[in-house]
Amino acid sequence: MGRRQELEKRQMLLARFGRIIAVETRLDSLLTLIAEEVRRILDADRCSVFLVDTYKGELWTKVALGVGEKILRIPLGRGIAGFVAKTGNAINIRDAYRDPRFNQDLDRITGYQTKNALAVPLKGRDGKILGVFEVLNKNKSAFNDEDEGFLRILATIAASFIENATLYDELRRSHLETIYRMALVAEFRDQEDTGKHLRRMSRFSGILGAGMGLGYEEAEDIRYAAPLHDVGKVAIPDTILRKPGKLDAAEYEEMKRHTIYGSQMLARAESRLLRLAARIAVAHHEHFDGTGYPHQLKGDLIPTEARIVAVADVFDALASERVYKGAWSVDEARGYILERSGTLFDPDVCASFDKRFDELRSVLEEESRRVVPEDAPGPGARKGQQPKPGV
Ligand code: C2E
Ligand code: SIN
Ligand code: SIN
Ligand code: FE
Ligand code: FE
Repeated sequence: MGRRQELEKRQMLLARFGRIIAVETRLDSLLTLIAEEVRRILDADRCSVFLVDTYKGELWTKVALGVGEKILRIPLGRGIAGFVAKTGNAINIRDAYRDPRFNQDLDRITGYQTKNALAVPLKGRDGKILGVFEVLNKNKSAFNDEDEGFLRILATIAASFIENATLYDELRRSHLETIYRMALVAEFRDQEDTGKHLRRMSRFSGILGAGMGLGYEEAEDIRYAAPLHDVGKVAIPDTILRKPGKLDAAEYEEMKRHTIYGSQMLARAESRLLRLAARIAVAHHEHFDGTGYPHQLKGDLIPTEARIVAVADVFDALASERVYKGAWSVDEARGYILERSGTLFDPDVCASFDKRFDELRSVLEEESRRVVPEDAPGPGARKGQQPKPGV
């Protein structure tokens, strides 16, 4: 290829790079996308994006290990990436195993053999080092100065997107945490082990949704919104809420209003999750056959998310101790739910409940064994979540 064509090709690749990565706002997927693009553009066998975790003084990256992936952490200053992050200088190594800065630990873990490597720092807007771009094993030859210049440009483009995605991620997580903490506040007076009930019913809801074939995002949304189902209980007086015995008819009528109060508190929210929570709050005591409250809605007129939460909530209420009742055995609770398929509960949700019962049971046991109830981040702890990058 001639010089001119070479330049044109690179310009095209750069433009494409910017276009492609601009679309992704989630840090997790963004990093994967960037690594794949850079690897292809530089004709390398591998590309890793390391990010600095300032709290821990480490770099972390995701690596593919056969099936699935794993987070690897290396101390700042160690290995090629660690050296670049610490000094801010690029490194180009032609023969890794002969270079003292190379640390063979990563190869040992991944079973990969590094021959040559090029690494440049990723710098944020204020010049602070966010992480390191590293490409390994250029096909045919080793990396040259032109590759280095090119990788630097890619790093500059990528850095601003990574910085934005990190902020967006933090915002999203603090939004989820706030929702969860609101739910804790609402149930604080109600039960001894508020956190446990919320985490359990939240996880049950996610499992039931997934078992019904909802998409991942949809099931996750329901899992995050579910803890707010009883937020309206903050408006119920203690004399009713904490009454050790059975409620009389008037008290129960007042108690039922927690559904309306909840929806009033959440109605017309801007947040999608809060609007979902409002639909759950108002309808989680509706019955499939129209005998529930507050609006005696029937079947499909009850939003799916509320039909799911109804099962998750009652299953957990039965299996737990309340001020007014003792705990039922898990099997009694299971029998109660399945016998009411098509009357109190949606048959599709009950089918999912039946199919996923082992999973539900192990969540119940796992959460009940938890020693410190409020230590965990609640529903914020997503599977495969990457550690918080120190940006
Ligand atoms: P909760 O204690 O979380 O119960 C949620 C739902 O689980 C109940 O909705 C009910 O459908 C089911 N459930 C709970 N315990 C039992 C039970 O022993 N037997 C049966 N068959 N179902 C049970 P429900 O009845 O609409 O009650 C809503 C909320 O009202 C309850 O939430 C609780 O906070 C309060 N509540 C209901 N009954 C009483 C009561 O007798 N005494 C007191 N202090 N509170 C009550
Ligand atoms: C890295 O690949 O940068 C970390 C390990 C090493 O330097 O060999
Ligand atoms: C609870 O689970 O704390 C209350 C359930 C309900 O009233 O819906
Ligand atoms: Fe409720
Ligand atoms: Fe509940």
